[in-house]
Amino acid sequence: MPPIDDATRPRVAGSVELEPRQRAAGDHLRMVHDHFRRQLETLTRAVETLQDAAGDGAADGASEVEAVRAGIHGLAPSLTTQQVAGLCGQVCRFLTMHHTIEDQNMFPAVATIQAYAPVAARLAEEHLVVHAHLERVDDLAVAVRTDAGRIGELVAAVADLRADLESHFAYEETEMSEPLGLLGLGI
Ligand SMILES: [Fe+2]
Ligand SMILES: [Fe+2]
Repeated sequence: MPPIDDATRPRVAGSVELEPRQRAAGDHLRMVHDHFRRQLETLTRAVETLQDAAGDGAADGASEVEAVRAGIHGLAPSLTTQQVAGLCGQVCRFLTMHHTIEDQNMFPAVATIQAYAPVAARLAEEHLVVHAHLERVDDLAVAVRTDAGRIGELVAAVADLRADLESHFAYEETEMSEPLGLLGLGI
């Protein structure tokens, strides 16, 4: 699936002046996304640390990787391949839940405002792109448990997920604040 193309996105935001109390819904959406941003940052550090450890340990297998995991990045706690796989699975599950809620509740409601219907449709399409990234990350996290040599692929997959997800979050935050405020919708 090709990466998300910002140039083809419909843009509507900027037409409405919201009351302060109407901004709460958009602010909440941003807070939820910020939580995912932090999780993705942690996940990136974890897979990169594992990759460094694999390089140092001559990648003899998962046990070798775990044997040499010793605070490579200083700040990052070193996780075992099992723990990294668990973390990947957790992030993927929570993000899928977030998108399911948006698909089922937020987008149909927003689409009732005619001007915003194309934006809601576009955001729903982008969820399919993000979902393909999540499946790849999840599959590779499982693969790395038995084949430490695939850690480079997992690092790249997490980076690709992060790039498209950040682009999606930013677009969604910009475009959803006004309709959510107008509808008085929380997510
Ligand atoms: Fe979304
Ligand atoms: Fe979202």
